[in-house]
Amino acid sequence: MPVAIVTLKSTEHQQDLIIQRPTSGLSLQGRLRVPGDKSISHRALMLGALAQGETEIQGLLIGEDPRSTAACFRALGAEISELNTEYVRVQGIGLGQLQEPADVLNAGNSGTTLRLMLGILASHPGRFFTVTGDSSLRSRPMSRVVKPLQQMLAQIWGRQGGTLAPLAIQGQQLQPIKYHSPIASAQVKSCILLAGLMAEGKTTVTEPALSRDHSERMLQGFGASLSIDPETHSVTILGPAQLQGQSVIVPGDISSAAFWLVAGAVVPGSEICIENVGVNPTRTGILEALSMMGADITLENQRVVAGEPVADLRVRCRGGGTLPLQACEIAGDVIPRLIDEIPILAVAAIFAKGTTVIRDAAELRVKESDRIAVIASELNRLGAKVTELPDGLEISGGTTLTGTDVDSHTDHRIAMSLAIAALNATGTTTIHRAEAAAISYPDFFQSLIGVAMGNE
Ligand code: S3P
Repeated sequence: MPVAIVTLKSTEHQQDLIIQRPTSGLSLQGRLRVPGDKSISHRALMLGALAQGETEIQGLLIGEDPRSTAACFRALGAEISELNTEYVRVQGIGLGQLQEPADVLNAGNSGTTLRLMLGILASHPGRFFTVTGDSSLRSRPMSRVVKPLQQMLAQIWGRQGGTLAPLAIQGQQLQPIKYHSPIASAQVKSCILLAGLMAEGKTTVTEPALSRDHSERMLQGFGASLSIDPETHSVTILGPAQLQGQSVIVPGDISSAAFWLVAGAVVPGSEICIENVGVNPTRTGILEALSMMGADITLENQRVVAGEPVADLRVRCRGGGTLPLQACEIAGDVIPRLIDEIPILAVAAIFAKGTTVIRDAAELRVKESDRIAVIASELNRLGAKVTELPDGLEISGGTTLTGTDVDSHTDHRIAMSLAIAALNATGTTTIHRAEAAAISYPDFFQSLIGVAMGNE
């Protein structure tokens, strides 16, 4: 069977991923597991640190982002064992008991670490904290969490009126609020709920559309008292709360599975089964979008593991010369449920008949990179026809991709999306700064080699 040749070229500072597609007959085959869910991994480490007693975590994502969370909470006094996927033990120190660290807390590339941690730090009276991140994170907007925290009487300072990291926080006894978030953001919602853990009374967050609900599920699992109104997308937490250490099992990340779902849906003759993937309904927009596009995806072995729905996902692509997918329009309330998957959906749309339009996704401009600008420019280098919209993308299906040099812009999801596009590009594609994949998927290259050789 023809296989794609996948090589990594490493220098001291960066890795280039080189993908050479065979002239004909490539198909992807195999079973694989994706790493643990990034959102759930962060939350398990944070709640474990804030709880009384021990938390055990199985299936933690050992990527750069959770490493940043673990490093920050170790500096704040939590005992966290060496990170591995089998078993991580967190010895919690109890709500309100975080220590004042001797140095700046560094969230690296991770928006979730910084934004969720701000709610926790701001609510620790009498302690002073400073937080920063890498150059991407230092340019991302923090006002979305700083403003509501200030309404709770938090004291936060930073560049540009306290809206950009590095930030300094003088912990306070916070007041509960009712906050109407202008954006559907799980990071905003979670930051306020975490701040509300220590405020006396009811803190409510309402969002315009439902964002991922892992915080709500896990806070309840750890013993916090929450009430949820699904009609108005409101969550209320009652403080002060007490959290008790738990056993958390982290399912595979559907955002990582998305790369194989699209690869399996667009490379003719492919069949891939991705085992043990979290299918929380607030995350399954990618399955809805790909089904709308006519992809053949089935959910097998559906079950609930530690409060989160899980399934094995099987994707197939018939052989044949025509385009495997249909174009579609993706907009509105589904956007927060597939926000991280839009770069790889743009790749899928290249192999769809017609023009795919993605709207209401202006948030993509303030992710790890400006994902609207970056995915459009890099896919166009390969020969795609992608047009930027202020809040999304327009992708004309049916163009032929030709291998060339492209760049991840140090964004993990861009690096992996380009690798999948390269599987359907003629000749050789070189993805510069591909090491970014390790933020959420350290074994991505090995899995890519595995499915490209049909033996994962
Ligand atoms: C996340 C929420 C989303 C998502 C990010 C992880 C989380 O961000 O894009 O990758 O774990 O809460 P927003 O809340 O900014 O939409």
